[in-house]
Amino acid sequence: MTTTPNPLRDPRDKRLPRVAGPSVLVLFGVTGDLSRKKLLPAIYDLSNRGLLPPGFSLVGFARRDWDHQDFRQIAYEAVKQHARTPFREDVWEHLAEGMHFVPGEFGDPGAFEALSMAVKELDESRGTGGNYAFYLSIPPKFFPEVVEQLRNSGLANSDGSGGFRRVVIEKPFGHDLASAQELNATVHRVFPEESIFRIDHYLGKETVQNILALRFANTMFEPIWNRGFVDHVQITMAEDIGIGGRAGYYDGIGAARDVIQNHLLQLLALTAMEEPTSFSAEAVRAEKAKILSSVRVPGDLALSTARGQYAAGWQGGRNVKGYLEEDGIPASSRTETYAAVKLEIENRRWAGVPFYLRTGKRLSRRVTEVAMVFQKAPHQPFSHTDTEELGQNALVMRVQPDEGITVRFGSKVPGTSMEIRDVNMDFAYGESFTESSPEAYERLLLDVLIGDPPLFPRQEEVELSWQILDPITEFWAGRGHVDQYRSGGYGPDSADELMARDGRAWRRL
Ligand code: BG6
Repeated sequence: MTTTPNPLRDPRDKRLPRVAGPSVLVLFGVTGDLSRKKLLPAIYDLSNRGLLPPGFSLVGFARRDWDHQDFRQIAYEAVKQHARTPFREDVWEHLAEGMHFVPGEFGDPGAFEALSMAVKELDESRGTGGNYAFYLSIPPKFFPEVVEQLRNSGLANSDGSGGFRRVVIEKPFGHDLASAQELNATVHRVFPEESIFRIDHYLGKETVQNILALRFANTMFEPIWNRGFVDHVQITMAEDIGIGGRAGYYDGIGAARDVIQNHLLQLLALTAMEEPTSFSAEAVRAEKAKILSSVRVPGDLALSTARGQYAAGWQGGRNVKGYLEEDGIPASSRTETYAAVKLEIENRRWAGVPFYLRTGKRLSRRVTEVAMVFQKAPHQPFSHTDTEELGQNALVMRVQPDEGITVRFGSKVPGTSMEIRDVNMDFAYGESFTESSPEAYERLLLDVLIGDPPLFPRQEEVELSWQILDPITEFWAGRGHVDQYRSGGYGPDSADELMARDGRAWRRL
């Protein structure tokens, strides 16, 4: 096979280029927040990096009375505002030529016929080769309808032409195990498993992929990555923002379904799994599924979980509303905006090592990290007063915003006594590499177009994650009461009490 040299690639880079082939991306839900802030900018960034083919075409589908030009204008504004790479008029012009819009309702077969004609025309005019990826960035209740329409209109079928048909599904994939299984059955009636790309955008983040590099490309960490050395693991995803304009999506879903079921359990899986036999999709997914099936929820959920709702408070230099005062949230809502759970992993490597997961909105700052907290030294030949300020060693994988890795250990304080205090040794992406990290959606969109699946959870992982979460959300539903926590603070007291019962504390946010 010959590959056309890409002028934008560094000629010193000897790796094979990962460049998408001729294709059309059809974006459902093009008017939504995700499209505007993430997907359209990521498509531009890919184009700017020379990773999209010359004839690449983007078709927007939505219930708007737009023409192609309106769509291009909306996309232009989104790119100008949110793209990661510098704006280049020539790149934009080239991309915009391949942007088309099809107006329509999800329930209207005529609109899907129009879509079908539009993509066929693009095959003719832009050489997209009958390769279509359908991105469903739409409310989950429309997934089944759109998937069926794709089948009925013939769009999902490549008619033996050799072109690919792929469907990309944004989370949440169901709201519990039963609904995830039902949705899966619906999608499978139309698309085979290898054509289904379930998005968990955390897997597209460089720092999340680096967990695997850290563990399996090095020798110094893996020997201590087990119950013999690790005291416990804390996985945190804290946000300083509230729910913004997402009341319709968020209420009734809550922090555990929104974040723990997918992002945090994926982080847990990558942190705790065994080494895969290769980095093929099959091998990585098999290890993740294996570890997720070893996760146990402790028996007493009143003691091992906590949840809360943000109350009004002071954040970022201003007064902010409580969750119940947000537009579109009923005053009786019991949806949690903070969730913490303690999980156990029943296998030889991790037995007895708790994994504490927490996530919340309107906390003091934005931070996502995985912290391995190590056991104390079995014996200290120093006096108690010398080690008063010495905590536990920790290895912290900082996913965002300050991407890198911190190793925390004790060091002698300069002076005449043997006082020992915690210090940090840091690796920061920004200091070690000159290139900035691509956005998660750049990587994931490219993988969809190339047809490279390792970073997309397969159905088994999705179901195992719901299986872990279902007893917790059911338990909460039966309880009614939700703790309140102050906006701009550290979460509900019940979360601190959860840790205190085990003689531990959360890392400071
Ligand atoms: C999404 C959640 O999956 O992740 C949001 O639905 C959350 O509620 C977002 O704000 C956070 O993503 P990131 O990449 O900013 O950490």
